Amino acid sequence: MILAVPRETRPGERRVAIVPDSVPKLAGLGFEVRVQAGAGDRAGASDERYAAKGAAVVGDAGELAAAADVLVRVGPPDEPDVDRLREGAALVALLAPHAHLPLVRRLAARRISAFALELVPRITRAQDMDILSSMSTVSGYRAAVLAAARLPRFFPLLMTAAGTIPPARVLVIGAGVAGLQAIATARRLGAVVEAYDTRPAVREQVESLGARFVDLPLEARQAQDAGGYATAQPEDFYRKQRELLAARVADSDAVITTALVPGKRAPVLVSAEMVKGMRPGSVIVDLAAEAGGNCELTEPGREVERGGILVSGLTDHASALAVHASQMFSRNVTAFVALLVRDRALRIDTADEIVAGTLLTHAGEVRHAPTRALLEAQHPA
Ligand code: NAI
Repeated sequence: MILAVPRETRPGERRVAIVPDSVPKLAGLGFEVRVQAGAGDRAGASDERYAAKGAAVVGDAGELAAAADVLVRVGPPDEPDVDRLREGAALVALLAPHAHLPLVRRLAARRISAFALELVPRITRAQDMDILSSMSTVSGYRAAVLAAARLPRFFPLLMTAAGTIPPARVLVIGAGVAGLQAIATARRLGAVVEAYDTRPAVREQVESLGARFVDLPLEARQAQDAGGYATAQPEDFYRKQRELLAARVADSDAVITTALVPGKRAPVLVSAEMVKGMRPGSVIVDLAAEAGGNCELTEPGREVERGGILVSGLTDHASALAVHASQMFSRNVTAFVALLVRDRALRIDTADEIVAGTLLTHAGEVRHAPTRALLEAQHPA
């Protein structure tokens, strides 16, 4: 079995899907690992390090793809690259299917078994394959570090001969995986941190990290679904939430927003008016930028200054920390690929909950119902 690792093609992407340290593990499963030359260059993984761990380094991307039984990537392939894969080969990557419908159609037509890693069910058995949590951990850390770097103030309390400097005040809105890591990092840097989330279940986690949970006299209607995710609230709820949070935002030196509702545009929780209420020099880091942003002024992929406030909508957090993001990705994806192997041969067991949940296209069909519905809405039968 050949497992191929191409160089990522999305501009600005520095990660690589498999790092050299995972090669022996994959070999143990029965894979011959082949890596495109330069694939890990931007993630601290040289061709020499891959070779030293037993991988073959291949110059030509087309040749690499054509030989693959399993092709592992970070992001989706370009559409024409799908035609280089053998019919029946497996593709494992973050595929963002809702945003790449023509690609999904092509994968099905080429009879590729495509696994979209963002669909790995968040069950206990799949914890070591949870790439979303890994990447959220990276983003949450970077958000706090970025806020500290952009703020023209110290984060910690400092007592110096030049006087005492009070600690920065950081507000984190949304305390999921990324938000909790942002809280932990901001605390380590010495800031005074408070946080709010619509899911009351996270209060204990927020407090255990040494932050204060902001109580709002506001109750979300069925705040979380069976999977533990936030549910969408009516616009009236978000309006009240903005009103109630305005004073907390105004009082903060840095606001880090991470609030997402799966499958929906991110709710707007910080209005332009609220930004106006902040002290000049304050910073907003909006981790929801890619989903439209939690701040009304966020421009995805950019940092802008509005009335003296810096609003960071950067979306390259995982890529910016490519070494560790790749290491975490690689460990997660190696654990996932192990599910596809039995007795050193590829075996796609659709009776397995994790395999079935992640399988986007297989045997010529689109297996993921929400993506199928989107495709049918485009081209009704
Ligand atoms: P996410 O990235 O989808 O959302 C981030 C956070 O924003 C969530 O905590 C959400 O409640 C919050 N949020 C949404 N609307 C908000 C609003 N209007 N105001 C303030 N906050 C708002 O979530 P993430 O981080 O991917 O995971 C959320 C939950 O999923 C976890 O806490 C856990 O329950 C579950 N989970 C389970 C895992 C497992 O079992 N293996 C692994 C990871 C997460």
